[in-house]
Amino acid sequence: MAWTRRHLLDLESLTAEEIVEILDTAASYKEVSGRSVKKVPALRGKVVVNLFFEASTRTANSFALAAKRLSADTMSFSSSGSSVSKGETLIDTAKNIEAMGVDAFVIRHSAPGAPHLLARHTRCSVINAGDGSHEHPTQGLLDIFTIREHFGKVRGLTVSILGDIRHSRVARSNAQGLRKLGARVILAGPPTLVPPAIAQALGVEVSHDIDEVVRISDVLNCLRIQFERKAGRFFPGVREYAAIYGLNGERMKKARAHAIVMHPGPINRGIELTPELADGPRSVILKQVENGLAVRMAVLCLCMGAGGE
Ligand code: CP
Repeated sequence: MAWTRRHLLDLESLTAEEIVEILDTAASYKEVSGRSVKKVPALRGKVVVNLFFEASTRTANSFALAAKRLSADTMSFSSSGSSVSKGETLIDTAKNIEAMGVDAFVIRHSAPGAPHLLARHTRCSVINAGDGSHEHPTQGLLDIFTIREHFGKVRGLTVSILGDIRHSRVARSNAQGLRKLGARVILAGPPTLVPPAIAQALGVEVSHDIDEVVRISDVLNCLRIQFERKAGRFFPGVREYAAIYGLNGERMKKARAHAIVMHPGPINRGIELTPELADGPRSVILKQVENGLAVRMAVLCLCMGAGGE
C-alpha cells in the first residue's frame, strides 16, 4: 500500500494498513542509525519546523534529529520569547513561518485539535507531537513499534496501560493503534483517573485491580501522573497512589515471565514506577526512545512525500 497522507494528526483516522506501513518504513530507517554515517538524503532541500507551545525533551529532540538524519534543514520555535507573548495567534504564527519557505510543521500544543486547525490553514505537512489530552500519534507508534519488535507481533497480546488515563494523549493513541492491530487493551488505574467513557469511546477494557492486570499482561505501559494538569486532585495522596496503583518489584513478582515494562517518559520515579523497575531487565524504556527516532524519520518521509529510503 502506498501512503497518501500529507499530515499525521492522530491514529484514530489511520487504517491498520497505514499503521503497519509506518512501522515497516521505520524498521528500514532503524538500520540507518546503526551505520557509521547516520544520514540519508531523503529530505535534502526541505525545511522542518518544530513548533512547540508545551515543554518537551524526547519528542522535540527526536524530531529534530530525525529531520537532520534525513538531511532536512530544521528550525525550532518555542512560544516563550516569541511574538505569541504579544498576542499573535497560532495561525498567524504558522503563516509567517510558512512564508519563509518551510515544508513541515511538527506541533505540540496544549489545546486538543490545534494540529487539525493548523492543517486546515497551511500548505505544509503537519505532524501532531501531542495536542492536550487528545493524541500523541508518534508516541503511540513508537510504543507499538517497540512491542512488535520485542514480541514479533502485536495481535493477541494483552497490553495494559496504567495510571493517569484521564489526562493522557499517549493512552488514547496507544489504544487506537493497538486495537486496530489486534491487541487486547486494558486501561487500568483508580476509577477517578480511568473514566469509563474514555474506554467505551476507544472500545477497550477497564480494570481497577492492578495486581490482576499485572498477572495477565504481556505489556505494562505505565503513564506519568500529570500533576501539571492537576491530576493530584483525583486521589488522596502520592504515597497511597504508589502503594495501590504503582508498579514495584513486589507487585511484578506476579507478572508473566516475559512481561515488559514501558513508560513514555518523563517518569515520576517512585510514584507510578519504582526506579528498580524503570532501570531493570524488564524495562524497554530507553528502547522506546531509540525507536522513536526511526518512527519519526518514517513519519516525516511519508508525509513529506519522500517515501521510504
Ligand atoms: N514522551 C514524551 O512525549 O516526552 P516529552 O514530553 O519529553 O516529549
